[in-house]
Amino acid sequence: MAGPLENKHIVLGVTGSIACYKAVDLASKLVQAGALVDVVMSYGATRFIAPLTFRAITHRDVVTDGFDPQSESAIEHVSLAHRADIVVIAPATVHCIAKLAGGLADDPLTTTVIATKAPLLIAPAMDANMFDHPATQENLAKLRQRGVVVAGPAPGRLASGMMGMGRLLEPPELLGYITATMGKQGDLDGRTVVVSAGGTMEAIDPVRVITNHSSGKMGYALAEAARDRGANVVLVTAASGLAEPAMVKVVPVGSAQEMCDAVLEHVKSADALIMAAAVADYRPSSQAEQKIKKSEDDLTIALTKTTDILQAARGSFVRVGFSAESQDLVENAKAKVKSKDLDLIVANDITDPDSGFGRDTNKVALIGRDLQVEELPVLSKYEVSNRILDRVLALLPVN
Ligand code: CTP
Repeated sequence: MAGPLENKHIVLGVTGSIACYKAVDLASKLVQAGALVDVVMSYGATRFIAPLTFRAITHRDVVTDGFDPQSESAIEHVSLAHRADIVVIAPATVHCIAKLAGGLADDPLTTTVIATKAPLLIAPAMDANMFDHPATQENLAKLRQRGVVVAGPAPGRLASGMMGMGRLLEPPELLGYITATMGKQGDLDGRTVVVSAGGTMEAIDPVRVITNHSSGKMGYALAEAARDRGANVVLVTAASGLAEPAMVKVVPVGSAQEMCDAVLEHVKSADALIMAAAVADYRPSSQAEQKIKKSEDDLTIALTKTTDILQAARGSFVRVGFSAESQDLVENAKAKVKSKDLDLIVANDITDPDSGFGRDTNKVALIGRDLQVEELPVLSKYEVSNRILDRVLALLPVN
């Protein structure tokens, strides 16, 4: 199944930091995602990792610093710069960042950066004091101003033993930054999309909640796919245990009421609302202040209807609902298009093994206001998201 990195030319610059080992994993993940990865290493990087390691993973030549300017490979790396869909430097050392900010081109990597028109993403890794140094901060500010995307660093334990800012982001997070940066000029550029995800949790007492089996994966895939097409994405999420998508505004919530408040707040300036969350229809009428003790054989909990968020969220934005059904899929979904006055509904049969809770695939039908049913095959949740976003895009007024 085609993902956003399929057949993309990625130049992966690696500079001399102990975090180089993570670049090996990143290269591997990029190759697995279908990208053509050309690694360009600084001299320092070759002291940490052998070029052969990257060559074995990428099945492509690795450009290193020990090159002869007259040689064919010297010309080759300029053509790499021209071919690149993105240049990623991970890890980027303090020295590399200073060279980039100064516009220097004294090695294959910095020359590639100067010679390319592709977007540049850098992932700094260094000791906390180096990161905090005014020179580094000024250099990073200069690079950001030029449109360079700076991913991280993350706080945590550093190689020196110090705690602070300076850790290279983990490869899965870097992948998110890469697809987001490549998609910046996509067809949703300039649009704001609010996505809800996960199953809400309605408290019974300080210990127990009423919730459901929604994993949140569909909503997260939608947030990532919209981001990778250039949208500003707000993800209002009740899911737990999923990694925060990079370059997405994440708003964590617990209950249906919290989700309602967050959605109504963020949708004010949105172009589309996609409610992928499994919102509780009922919550306990009151929450016990103390843990409920076991006593009688039967316990009855009074429930009160929650606010229907889709019904409450009105405005000039495109409104998309989900309809998870265990019977009469299409009829129930069509009824919701009418009752909730939706532009589009995504109907999925939760009894189908390809679309059950927590899976990475989904099999859905899309139903618009005209009640025509578009049945989609089993697709990854990311691809389902893109099909939904194609329909959303067609409903948006032309910019
Ligand atoms: N939804 C919502 N607010 C609620 C309940 C649901 O915004 N309080 C949204 C869901 O996020 C979904 C759509 O409404 O996009 C349909 O949700 P679903 O639970 O299938 O429909 P309900 O209207 O609750 O109907 P039922 O549970 O009876 O099938």
